Amino acid sequence: MVEIPDYLLERSREARARFQGGDGGSAEASSAIVESTATNEETAPAIAQAPEAEIEKVEPPKPVAPWVIAAKRRKKIPVWMAPVALFLPIWAFMIWGTLEEPSSNEEGVIAAGGEVYNQCSSCHGAGGGGGVGYQLNEGEVLKTFPDVESHIAWVVNGSSVAGTPYGDPDREGGQRISQEQGVMPGFSALGSLQILEVVLYERVTHGLQSPESLEAYVIWAESGELPIWESGISPQMIAGSFAEFLETNAEAQEAYEETIEQAAG
Ligand code: HEC
Repeated sequence: MVEIPDYLLERSREARARFQGGDGGSAEASSAIVESTATNEETAPAIAQAPEAEIEKVEPPKPVAPWVIAAKRRKKIPVWMAPVALFLPIWAFMIWGTLEEPSSNEEGVIAAGGEVYNQCSSCHGAGGGGGVGYQLNEGEVLKTFPDVESHIAWVVNGSSVAGTPYGDPDREGGQRISQEQGVMPGFSALGSLQILEVVLYERVTHGLQSPESLEAYVIWAESGELPIWESGISPQMIAGSFAEFLETNAEAQEAYEETIEQAAG
């Protein structure tokens, strides 16, 4: 039910009294006004004026406009909206940040490599800082093995007798030579997937190579089509099976070509 403001009721009572005292004929009209007031509050301003024209000295109280009444009845915005509104731009910003192309593929394989690295950290340090084995981090491992294939072959085979040179012969600071004090065991028993994972992990985390440039190898790791790498395998044999894989996988092929282009340009 619509509530009729008191002043309106009061005024219509007064008006009725006056009409009945003077012109009896207009009593009907006045009761019609009261009725319409009861059913439709929007006519309130009209009522406020109608009696005023005919009756002198009725001091009309300031009419409350229907839109004001409506505004007061309307549901208010809850208080907690204020902090919510305050943080909206921040959330928008955070969501914008997540819209980047997901690199979850690379992260998956490389993160898995971090698990495998637990078997290497006793000699190379948890962060690749070196120990019995050489330092790998700060880009060192990439200087020794500029290509993925020789890196894989090294981990599969481990080191030869002390004094044997290995890795890039043009290595900055001279080629690596197996030391007297430590030998690295071969890790062929890990299986091809774990070996590739730990190699990609080392190249990204220690070698500071960009994961994007290793995308084709990530796809290779995920393909389930890795060959078995046994002790004695050479980098050339690994490169051969990688090339074969690229021929069968357009996505990897494309990723690899992009890497070559970026390296060239
Ligand atoms: C028992 C100790 C030991 C463990 C465990 C070990 N390494 Fe090594 N690693 C060495 C030694 C020692 C060298 C240096 C080569 C040498 O002196 O023969 C080396 C060298 C390397 C190199 C070459 C670094 C360079 O720049 O010369 C890489 C890469 C490497 N290891 C990776 C690994 C990975 C991956 C694992 C784990 C799957 C691993 N290592 C586990 C001892 C170890």
